[in-house]
Amino acid sequence: MLKIDFKDFYDFDKNKYEENVLEIHDKVETLKDQTDQFLGWMEYTTKSNNEIAKAIQIGIEFQKYETLVVVGIGGSFLGTKSFYEIFKDRLSKPKTKLIFLGNNISGHYLKSILKKLENQDFAVNIISKSGGTLEPAIAFRLVKNLLYKKYGIEAKDRIIVTTDSSKGNLRKMAIDEGYQILTIPENIGGRYSLFTTVSLLPLSAAGIDAYEIIEGFIAAKKLFDKRSLDNPAYKYAIARRIAYQKDKSIEIFTAYDPSFSDYLEWLKQLFGESEGKEGKGIYPMSVINTRDLHSLGQLIQEGKKDHFETIIWAEENNEIVFEQLDIDFDGLNDLAGIDIDVINKKAMEGTRIAHKNGDIKNILIEIENITPFSLAYLSYFFMKACTMSCYLLKINPFNQPGVEEYKKEIKKLLDNL
Ligand code: PA5
Repeated sequence: MLKIDFKDFYDFDKNKYEENVLEIHDKVETLKDQTDQFLGWMEYTTKSNNEIAKAIQIGIEFQKYETLVVVGIGGSFLGTKSFYEIFKDRLSKPKTKLIFLGNNISGHYLKSILKKLENQDFAVNIISKSGGTLEPAIAFRLVKNLLYKKYGIEAKDRIIVTTDSSKGNLRKMAIDEGYQILTIPENIGGRYSLFTTVSLLPLSAAGIDAYEIIEGFIAAKKLFDKRSLDNPAYKYAIARRIAYQKDKSIEIFTAYDPSFSDYLEWLKQLFGESEGKEGKGIYPMSVINTRDLHSLGQLIQEGKKDHFETIIWAEENNEIVFEQLDIDFDGLNDLAGIDIDVINKKAMEGTRIAHKNGDIKNILIEIENITPFSLAYLSYFFMKACTMSCYLLKINPFNQPGVEEYKKEIKKLLDNL
């Protein structure tokens, strides 16, 4: 289901890390059920979880609306957006369109989305674990206002609030105003909330099979929760540790399909916010090829050698070919009749060889197809690998003390307005 290939990476002896990795594994297994440990994401998601079932059911009911506005930022929207962008044009029957709001404070962005919504039949899912984040709070005020203007009292049924199970201003407001509430468990942080109400409601509204996502998560646990150095998530974490020790301070996540762009954003948040602390961490960046071969390709190939690459590849068969021309003006007649996906794969392989020749180390992660199941499988792999990577660096993966700094400074300025 997932293959990981280290042939263009450093030769490394994973056994050197055995003691460390297994000790961390045991610690995680012991702590995962404790409410203050933020490891809840490992066990929370099951097919019989009532809160998840409720989220999926509401999502399916909301398919009656043309658009669902997902208001949230960071972990409260990136997982959803990453799956949505991958599947929205792959679904045989797409349902509700998702629009994402509350992930910036751009007046232009807000104004243009609100304008579009005037002519759409829409509902809103506001998602904030803390219930006090500036960007979604601003967007929610604006979109709620429009919703009430358009639908009057009926607007109330078009609002779903997804927030912490016991605290926060958003929760209080939802109770006061009588909105339906879905909960995010206390011991699951934003960027680890992919397999919770946070994304399963909007993805269900969009027609993406949430139960297939859950199946993928359950299958992934069988392999990536294994107490073994052959666990691919642990092998990848060890490889990242080795790259870091060799002064590779940048990891480039690479995909060869633009629909993966937001998935790479999700990965950047997962690794960046989890690992970048105490003066440590690998800087995650992303490229979509072959597009970025024509912009960043030069730097990656011949610039400062401070990076390594993690390529995500999935087999596809879109059955798209071009025909031979009488006059072979562009010299492409030899490729006529060959599937574009095959050509794309050769581009990936050729780039890998070029990078190898330029001493740019790479790791290839392959999934066999692009389905909600396989993407969930891949995502749990990364979540487990990220956790192990952080603990190998002696970093707490689940906090984000650094984000308080800019919040404080922004607040000071806003208080003076
Ligand atoms: O991973 C995290 O915890 C953060 O990125 C949060 O998801 C993000 O800051 C949004 O927070 P909230 O859901 O509380 O509005």
